[in-house]
Amino acid sequence: MDMGAPFITARTASDYWAYATLFSSTCPVAHVEGVLAGAVMAFRSQDDPSEVYVQDVMVHPDHQRQGITTALLGSVRAQAQEWGCRRIWLTSEPNNQAADATWRKLGWSNLSGDREVAGVQVISNFKGPGKDRAVYELLLN
Ligand SMILES: CC(C)(COP(=O)(O)OP(=O)(O)OC[C@H]1O[C@@H](n2cnc3c(N)ncnc32)[C@H](O)[C@@H]1OP(=O)(O)O)[C@@H](O)C(=O)NCCC(=O)NCCS
Repeated sequence: MDMGAPFITARTASDYWAYATLFSSTCPVAHVEGVLAGAVMAFRSQDDPSEVYVQDVMVHPDHQRQGITTALLGSVRAQAQEWGCRRIWLTSEPNNQAADATWRKLGWSNLSGDREVAGVQVISNFKGPGKDRAVYELLLN
């Protein structure tokens, strides 16, 4: 996960234990020839169980553009649909163009913000002071 810097902040081993042990249905991983190549950490909201929030998406640089994120988010989407959720959503850094291209390719919408950065709608201070984020969602049927 460190390889996702500056866009990904690696969590602790204890965090990953919890994701794998308590939230495995929305925290899928991808292996290529036995080696961990990508992971998604997503969680169903307890405040609004009709929503699944995607916290982290990370694919090893050697395995990007191979459809791993497409497959992992597809798995999260299938689980959310099985639960009858209304939407999946996530945020990314305003300057993460690879992420923006990925979410759009997968049919996610970039929510309106209060400013635009290189064609991306950004909400200022979304995650606290100075933490501007682009917000994306995929509505489910
Ligand atoms: C963003 C990221 C998760 C995409 O993962 P991925 O497994 O490479 O994505 P996929 O292979 O499923 O790509 C699906 C489509 O998204 C688009 N896409 C993905 N990466 C892209 C890039 N770097 N530039 C332009 N388009 C891109 C393409 O349309 C791609 O389809 P194609 O390869 O057939 O053209 C990956 O680049 C990554 O791990 N980056 C570092 C960590 C990060 O920024 N995570 C997101 C933080 S919110």
